[in-house]
Amino acid sequence: MKKFEREFNFYENQKNREKSKDTFFKKTEEQRIALTFDDVRLKSGYSKVMPDDVDLESKFSRNIGLKIPIVSAAMDTVTEHQMGIGMALLGGLGVIHKNMSPEEQARRVSKVKYYLNGLIDKPICVRKEQSIAEILKMKKEKEYSFNTFPVIDKKDRLVGILSKNDFDFCKSGSIKAGEAMSKEVITAPKGTKLEKAYEVMFENKKKTLPLVDKDNRLAGIYVFKDVKRIMMENPGGYNVDENGQLVAAAAIGVNDFERLELLIEKKINVVVIDTAHADTESVVQNLKEIKKKYKIDVVVGNVSEPESTKRLIKAGADGIKVGQGPGSICTTRVVAGIGSPQVSAVYKCSKIAQEYGVPVCADGGLKYSGDIPIALGEGAHCVMMGGMLSGTKEAPGDVIFREGRQWKIYRGMGSVGAMEEHKGSRERYRQSSGKKSLVAEGVEGLKPYKGGLSQVMFQYINGLRRGMGYVGAADIAELHRKADFVRISGAGKAESHPHDILITREPPNYPIGD
Ligand code: XMP
Repeated sequence: MKKFEREFNFYENQKNREKSKDTFFKKTEEQRIALTFDDVRLKSGYSKVMPDDVDLESKFSRNIGLKIPIVSAAMDTVTEHQMGIGMALLGGLGVIHKNMSPEEQARRVSKVKYYLNGLIDKPICVRKEQSIAEILKMKKEKEYSFNTFPVIDKKDRLVGILSKNDFDFCKSGSIKAGEAMSKEVITAPKGTKLEKAYEVMFENKKKTLPLVDKDNRLAGIYVFKDVKRIMMENPGGYNVDENGQLVAAAAIGVNDFERLELLIEKKINVVVIDTAHADTESVVQNLKEIKKKYKIDVVVGNVSEPESTKRLIKAGADGIKVGQGPGSICTTRVVAGIGSPQVSAVYKCSKIAQEYGVPVCADGGLKYSGDIPIALGEGAHCVMMGGMLSGTKEAPGDVIFREGRQWKIYRGMGSVGAMEEHKGSRERYRQSSGKKSLVAEGVEGLKPYKGGLSQVMFQYINGLRRGMGYVGAADIAELHRKADFVRISGAGKAESHPHDILITREPPNYPIGD
C-alpha cells in the first residue's frame, strides 16, 4: 500500500483520530505546555453530516440531560430565573447564582419549574363542603387566574372537579362544591408522565387530568392547555424533566444545607457546588455528606487538574466543572498565579472523567461559537458561558446608555463589587466576611446590549452545528471520537480572523470591539 493511502486509511479510522488527539495533548503535556482556544483548531474531515442534521443532545450530570450542550453561568449578572427559563426553553440549562438568600433563590427556581405548568404537583384544591360563594371569594382574594379546582373530601380523597362550566351554571352561591362539581372524573395513576397524560386527555376529551394514588388521594394535576403547549410548541426542543417542567439548576456553597434543602423542596433537578477551587477537604467532605443524605445530582467545580477530577468523582460528583481562571472577567491566574489554560485543562479532566462515565462542563473562556466544538471535541459534554450570554435581555440588570450605545453590567463573582455586596461571592473565593479589604479575583465592566437570548443562542448553536459538520460528527459522542487538533501559531490565529479589510457591517456572530 502506498504511503498516502496508508495515511488516508489511518485518519479514516475514528479510533486513530482519537489516538492522534491523545498523542497531540500528551506531547504538549510532556513539554509542560498548556493550550487554550486561540492555540488550536479542529481538523476538518470527510463528512456525510449536514449541520442541520446534527444531534446536539448531551448531559450536564449523570442523570440530567441537555437538548443542547450550553449552560449559563451561576453569576449575578448572568443567571436568575429569566435566564433559567430562556435557556431551558432553548434546550439548555441555567444555573441560578447564589448571591441571594436561600428563600429568594428557591423562589426563582420555582419560577423556572412552574413556567410551563407541566405537572402541577400541589394544585389548589377546594373542600366538598365549601360553598361556591366562598370559593369565588377566595379566588378573587388570591388573584387566581384559573377556574378549575379539584374537590376533595375530609380524608383528602378526590371526589370531583369544579370547572368554569360548573361556576357559570351554578344557580346560587350557597350551593356546595360537592353538589356543583362534576363527579365523572377521568384520573390517571400517580407518576403518569406528560406524554401519557396528553394521550389520555386527548382520547377522553378532558381538559384536566388529576393524578391519584392507590387511596384516591390527589397527587397532582395536568391541564390540557399547558400540556398541549409543551407538546406542540417546540416538540422535543425544551429541556423538560419527566413531569414536563423545565429543568432547573442552582448554585450552592460549601456546607450550605439550608439552601440545599429549600431547593430540593422546590424540585430542583441538579445543584452545583460552586467554588473557585473545588479540590479541597471541605468540598470533598461536603460532597460526600450530600450524596449520602440526599437523592440529587451534584455537579462540582471548579478544577483544572485530572487528579482533582478523580478525587471529586470518587467522593460522589455527578458532573465536574472545569475552568480555573479562563473567564473573561477572571483575574485569578494573574492574582494567584495558578490555573491551566482551558483547552488543556478540559482535555485532561475529560479524559479521566470519561473513565467513570461522569460528564464534564467546560466553564469559561469562550469567545466565539467556534470555541464550543473545540471544548466539546476535547471531551467535554457541555460548555458554560458567562460573557457570551451577558448583555442579553434575559441577563439580570438594566440596560445602560453610554457613548451612544446600550450596555449591561457584567462582573466577576470575585470582583470587589460582587464580594462587597454578597456573602455568596466572598465564600466562593474563600474570603471571610469580617475582613475590611477584599482580594479581588475578578473585574467589573460593561458588555454591549445584545437583545433577546434566542437570537444570540441561534448563532452559537448553529456555529457548533457547522463545526460538527466540518469534522463529520453526527452527535456529541462522535465528536468526542473524531475530533483531532492542530496547534496554530500567532500568524495562524491572525489568518483565522478577518484581515486586510475595514469591516463595514458587523456580523451577528462576530462581535467587533466587544
Ligand atoms: P466567561 O469567559 O464565560 O467565564 O465570561 C465565566 C466563568 O468565569 C468564572 N468566574 C470567575 N472566575 N474570577 C474568576 O477567576 C471571577 O470573579 C469570576 N466570576 C466568574 C465562572 O466559573 C464563570 O462560569
